Amino acid sequence: MMQTELDLFNPANPAEPQWIGKQAVVLPGLALAWVDALLPELRQIIACAPLRHMVTPGGLNMAVGLTNCGTLGWISDRRGYRYSPVDPLSQQPWPALPTVFSELAALAASAAGFADFQPDACLVNCYQPGNRLSLHQDRDEHDYSQPIVSVSLGLPAVFQFGGHSRNAPSQRIGLRHGDVMVWGGEDRLRFHGVLPLKPGNHPVLGSRRINLTLRKAG
Ligand code: SIN
Ligand code: FE2
Repeated sequence: MMQTELDLFNPANPAEPQWIGKQAVVLPGLALAWVDALLPELRQIIACAPLRHMVTPGGLNMAVGLTNCGTLGWISDRRGYRYSPVDPLSQQPWPALPTVFSELAALAASAAGFADFQPDACLVNCYQPGNRLSLHQDRDEHDYSQPIVSVSLGLPAVFQFGGHSRNAPSQRIGLRHGDVMVWGGEDRLRFHGVLPLKPGNHPVLGSRRINLTLRKAG
């Protein structure tokens, strides 16, 4: 039987970790108990460092709105992709990484086998219906032995988890509000992306999806 999209969002046992690589795992609903603590912090971050559409090195406006918190923030402009200690909009440091963000990230990383994860950067991506993120590798960080922790909030999305080349086949993984994904080690540089967000209205976040990716960038 062909896998339907419904199946993607209804794993047999939603509480069980789903290993999608040797060192890549989806932790369904892990962040649900943290949402009430995450959201006020997120609001404050966005108030200080507003979501914006960055320009790619090729001169296109990114559809996904983004901002950062932490000592480093990921930016893109005509000069390329990189981490910056200051928000280019304000020339001020990014808002601090809230303790609750790093605690959740460390918990998730340890569940995936990465002890003592101490993120210094959190990229906040905001997707509106129709927005997608094309396949890419996270390779602007210094130390690839450190994992990536991704927290999904709001509307569900289909995440593509590919291989080590852009055209390798990719798995499609349903990510819902509260799901956390961790990839590191041999899976750290796998291509990944997000399919166009389906319209919907999430009871907590409305018509959008917010993804937090926590990294050790410096
Ligand atoms: C990213 O790759 O930076 C974001 C992934 C996601 O939105 O799930
Ligand atoms: Fe990424």
